Amino acid sequence: MAAIERAADQEENVQGSGAISTIVIIIAMQTEALPLVNTFQLTEDPDSPFPKGVPWVRYHGTYKGLEINIIWPGKDSLLGVDSVGTISASLVTYSSIQALRPDLIINAGTAGGFKAKGASIADVYLASEVAFHDRRIPIPVFDQYGVGARKTFSTPNLVREINLKIGKLSTGDSLDMSPHDEASIMANEAVIKDMEGAAVAYVASLFSVPTIFLKAVTDIIDGDKPTAEEFLENLAAVTAALDQAVSQVVDFFPGRSLSEL
Ligand code: ADE
Repeated sequence: MAAIERAADQEENVQGSGAISTIVIIIAMQTEALPLVNTFQLTEDPDSPFPKGVPWVRYHGTYKGLEINIIWPGKDSLLGVDSVGTISASLVTYSSIQALRPDLIINAGTAGGFKAKGASIADVYLASEVAFHDRRIPIPVFDQYGVGARKTFSTPNLVREINLKIGKLSTGDSLDMSPHDEASIMANEAVIKDMEGAAVAYVASLFSVPTIFLKAVTDIIDGDKPTAEEFLENLAAVTAALDQAVSQVVDFFPGRSLSEL
């Protein structure tokens, strides 16, 4: 498709009238990404659209007429672990928007959940709002900038169709929770806590790309088990629930425009 036509299509999609065609799914961990790569029968792009030398990986293919791209920030080049957290998430979101011009972004992954607010292991949440809990700047207005609260793209028809829990998501760069973080998470009225969501939302908002957040609960933050242990214990099993939820959401897209979600 010619660049001008493509740009016109995208403009139309942001207005909500054109059918959804290109989707970017940002996923921080390989364990979370690979089941979906299989489900959508994607292949790794040998000629990555990303700058030379970065560990970011693009899996792509056509599924039910949709151009699906799963973007995984890859392994840290020094330490060999998944590049989790807000810095990598922001960079891959920016670069994916530039290279792939998606109609819609899905940030899919795992999260901790608060049982006092109704979360259980393997629940999948669609985030209604996102905010940061570790960017404290106690100066008027900078305080709100730090929290960076944003409503997510509204999908009333999708919510009616698919059985997902809905709740607010709070993002920070730590798996554990300091007392300061806890106070901010409570102020954010969050039900779930992750390490990427609000960062993806910030970058996507710079370019007005509609974004939805699907987060599966691997650990109960207000439970008895140590978070890291519970997270690792449940990661593989909970990823199956995430896989199913993302598939159901993507299956809702073909033939629909953004305004019909
Ligand atoms: N991802 C999974 N569990 C998490 C937690 N408790 N905090 C942040 N990110 C998570």
